[in-house]
Amino acid sequence: MKNLKQVHENAKPKLKDVCLVCRKCDGKSCISGVPGMGGCGGRAGFRRNIEALSRVMLNLRTIHGVSTPDSSYELFGVRLTMPIMGAPMCETAYNFLGQVDDYEFIHSQVVGAEAAGTIAFTGDSPDPALYTMGLKAIREKAFGKGIPIIKPREPREIIRRIKLAEENGVIAVGIDIDAAAFDNLKRAGQPVGPLTVLQLKQITGSTNLPVILKGIMTADQAVLAAECNAAGIVVSNHGGRALEHTPGTAEVLPEIVSAVKGALKIFIDGGFRSGEDVLKALALGAEAALIGRPVAIAAIGGETEGVCMLYNQLNDELVKAMLLTGCSNLASIDSGIIRESTW
Ligand SMILES: Cc1cc2nc3c(=O)[nH]c(=O)nc-3n(C[C@H](O)[C@H](O)[C@H](O)COP(=O)(O)O)c2cc1C
Repeated sequence: MKNLKQVHENAKPKLKDVCLVCRKCDGKSCISGVPGMGGCGGRAGFRRNIEALSRVMLNLRTIHGVSTPDSSYELFGVRLTMPIMGAPMCETAYNFLGQVDDYEFIHSQVVGAEAAGTIAFTGDSPDPALYTMGLKAIREKAFGKGIPIIKPREPREIIRRIKLAEENGVIAVGIDIDAAAFDNLKRAGQPVGPLTVLQLKQITGSTNLPVILKGIMTADQAVLAAECNAAGIVVSNHGGRALEHTPGTAEVLPEIVSAVKGALKIFIDGGFRSGEDVLKALALGAEAALIGRPVAIAAIGGETEGVCMLYNQLNDELVKAMLLTGCSNLASIDSGIIRESTW
């Protein structure tokens, strides 16, 4: 595989009728929604993620002594090459019309991330085999370096799946709490729904693994996540796939950061397409960013190699942007390197 352009060309026929594999994945021309690669409804939440990031600008600062910025990042005792990770994605039959093999897709996400020195989150779906495929790939191909995300099922079932994750030696687990109204699970007779503080406390108390809540979009919910003893949150609107008309994630990040910074880890996803985008999130107070659709396209068009290539490109861009804003390492990144335009 020569480059990411070729990876995109390879992905196009496999994603025919689902995704146009645009040069920039921005939700403007999607040919599918959910199921598919797009967002729900008119894709307002998907597009707003991109717009919110475009409103944050980077301050060019080159009078300093930083020459080789260090973008490495430590997560739950594991040193990663970058603060960039794979967002959980699965269900190829449901989302990609069966043109892509499930195990190959999950395997490429996990192994491609590992090859680039980072990690992937893996997903959950009505078919129990997909959750266990993620666990198997993390255990066998990434030495446990991965984070399975479980749907907001009945607490007993979540705890059962957390036990499976523990047996597979993962570094943390999570729940995509924003999937509380997903029809495909309901249709399969697998109840999902909102979880109460009491239920979440029971879940976090059932394991020694750090538990991450994915799908936080307001400061009050972030405070509740901390109260539930979550180790981290992902500020996320599920890529605009759960609820139409949500704000962009970069837009709500500052108020969430001021409510819970220091109480738990803050990750973010939604519309991150470059290393510069990641730097913006770090300047706004997130620890790391997760990448969704671009990783899916790289996995489909270039398998492990394509995914690894994408992460390396994102990290190269991040390091270059750190140099041009005067940041020597992640700890030195703060809001001084950004300028926000008013909406
Ligand atoms: C095809 C597809 C499948 C997804 N499956 C899951 C999933 O199983 N669990 C989950 O928490 N999020 C899932 N997501 C949401 C992503 O984890 C992530 O929140 C979102 O895609 C980030 O936005 P981005 O794609 O613009 O980077 C999925 C997204 C897509 C596009």
